[in-house]
Amino acid sequence: MQTKIQAVITAVGGYVPEDKLTNFDLEKMVDTNDEWIRTRTGIAERRIQKEEGKATSDMVVPAVLELCTKRGIRPEEIDCLIVGTVTPDMVFPSTANLVCAKIGATQAWGYDLSAACSGFLFALAQGAALIESGRYKKVVVCGADKMSSIVDYQDRATCIIFGDGAGAVLLEPGTEELGIRDSILRSDGTGASYLHMKAGGSLRPASQETVANREHYAYQEGQAVFKFAVKGMADVSAELMERNQLTGADIAWLVPHQANLRIIDATASRMGLTTEKVMINIERYGNTTAATIPLCLWEWESKLKKGDNIILAAFGGGFTWGAIWVKWAYDTKQ
Ligand code: UT7
Repeated sequence: MQTKIQAVITAVGGYVPEDKLTNFDLEKMVDTNDEWIRTRTGIAERRIQKEEGKATSDMVVPAVLELCTKRGIRPEEIDCLIVGTVTPDMVFPSTANLVCAKIGATQAWGYDLSAACSGFLFALAQGAALIESGRYKKVVVCGADKMSSIVDYQDRATCIIFGDGAGAVLLEPGTEELGIRDSILRSDGTGASYLHMKAGGSLRPASQETVANREHYAYQEGQAVFKFAVKGMADVSAELMERNQLTGADIAWLVPHQANLRIIDATASRMGLTTEKVMINIERYGNTTAATIPLCLWEWESKLKKGDNIILAAFGGGFTWGAIWVKWAYDTKQ
């Protein structure tokens, strides 16, 4: 009997820009304050890609090069590269295409995947399927967003939340019971009205009117999204655990999308997890959309052990949401 090929994460890379935008900076820009932002979201500061002429691909490049170095592979060995993002460098060509050109991944094909805050999870599931098919040996899955390019810094309801960053993982084939074990992914377009960008697509192409109306920025009805997010993220995480007979005691880490500390706490509590088992860096980076989950894996990599059960969970615009069970495949040499 042929052994099933498992898709295994074998390296992680990440990148955040140097420039910080603190709550105190925002106090000078809109009617808000540090106390409100901290208590309502858990955020203290975010990173912003300020350098002229730099885009999302320029954050993905160092993240991917880092994982190549860690794994000891050359970019030419990458078969496919997927970028989950809602802030591509351009409408086309894809950011994945531009990244491959910048790093010299000359043998790779790739594409962008648009699923907002669930972008990394959806891309990871797709990358895993490519590996499991037996056809591809090295698939890079990235989550990256330059949210500062679509945030209205006059809108206090959104500008306090978002930041910029990129993270990436390398998927390779394995045969042990490690790697991407199971996933539940969902989307519901009826949620589009609560979180979207009004113009710039084929529905409302850019015009003087759309610019004057400030329609090229992320629009969010926060309270409504909050309610769906709390339920959506917790429901799929609990369902994933139940159908794999996992209890809170079996889980080493929850890696939640970093949208709001209160949503993270609600999900962890539903899963029966204490805070020590939850990766949280929202205080320093805010919500980097598709980048939050790989950035957590990047920061916590040295603490992860072979065989650790990890649940990745996200909820975002679309609506899109989901959870993925990963059995970590390696110990990091200190
Ligand atoms: O990652 C993608 C998915 N997105 C999410 O998961 C985000 C989900 N939503 C949230 O995280 C929260 O809804 C927010 C953080 C966006 C907002 O927090 P909230 O507790 O839902 O606040 P709210 O919108 O209900 O506003 C409460 C009050 C309002 O004032 P009144 O009407 O009570 O007088 C707002 O006008 O707070 C006011 N407010 C602010 N005050 C100070 C709204 N934004 C601010 C602000 N600073 N930045």
